[in-house]
Amino acid sequence: MKSIMIKYQKTRRYNQEFISKNLMGPNAMMLLEEMTKYFNLKSGMRILDLGCGTGLTSIFLAKEYGVKVIAYDLWISETENYERFKSIGLDDHIEAIQGDANVMPFPNDYFDGVISVDSYQYYGSNNKFFTEKLQPILKNNAIVAIAVPGMSVELGDRIPEEMKPYWDEESFNTWHTIDWWQQEFSELLNSIIVKEMACFDEAWSDWLNTDNPHAITDRDMIKIDGGRYMNLIAIIGRVNKLYL
Ligand SMILES: C[S@@+](CC[C@H](N)C(=O)[O-])C[C@H]1O[C@@H](n2cnc3c(N)ncnc32)[C@H](O)[C@@H]1O
Repeated sequence: MKSIMIKYQKTRRYNQEFISKNLMGPNAMMLLEEMTKYFNLKSGMRILDLGCGTGLTSIFLAKEYGVKVIAYDLWISETENYERFKSIGLDDHIEAIQGDANVMPFPNDYFDGVISVDSYQYYGSNNKFFTEKLQPILKNNAIVAIAVPGMSVELGDRIPEEMKPYWDEESFNTWHTIDWWQQEFSELLNSIIVKEMACFDEAWSDWLNTDNPHAITDRDMIKIDGGRYMNLIAIIGRVNKLYL
């Protein structure tokens, strides 16, 4: 009998109903699993999960790697996330904090790494955010792993006519190409990898199959896009503090 290869084996081991209920976009755990192939997390590391939403990625980090996670998010309250982490016995491993990425209450040189999935575009599409807000709280050589929605082609400031019902100007202005992100981070990170993510179809499909009202409108968007413009981009590297 042929064995079936499951591409995102770790993600698929979790209760898929729990994941589905807590998705806020393309499957965040899957995006993280794909990125973890490019760096090593060790038990005991302190990792910032920036814009963690409902904390699926925080759960993955704590469970798979035994790291200490600070789950930081603006829209989801710390009580809601704390209760979710407690319900699965992870409240000693993940600390939930509600707050804005622009005003983070952490000491300098505090984190061994930051991961951020489908969130960085809201506040970080300008390299001031990284140098002024994020880099100070990361140790030199800390891991940086960011997954953002992006563009496979540069569209300038023009939203294609057929996408106008689905894309608002504000979001559109934060979506960029691999080349744009590469340029943005090339001097800030060592060992930098900026790549299109392979899990696009599967991660989006998990989200579109939920009954979340946002997912229902996103179904048309993905259909009309038809693989022409939208992608998911991973930016991975190590903090280079000597750059300063
Ligand atoms: C599309 S959701 C993604 C959540 C989660 N990372 C995921 O992939 O399921 C975007 C998240 O970014 C967070 N976010 C947006 N602006 C933020 C800011 N200024 N500071 C911290 N988090 C922010 C929101 O609170 C929201 O949970």
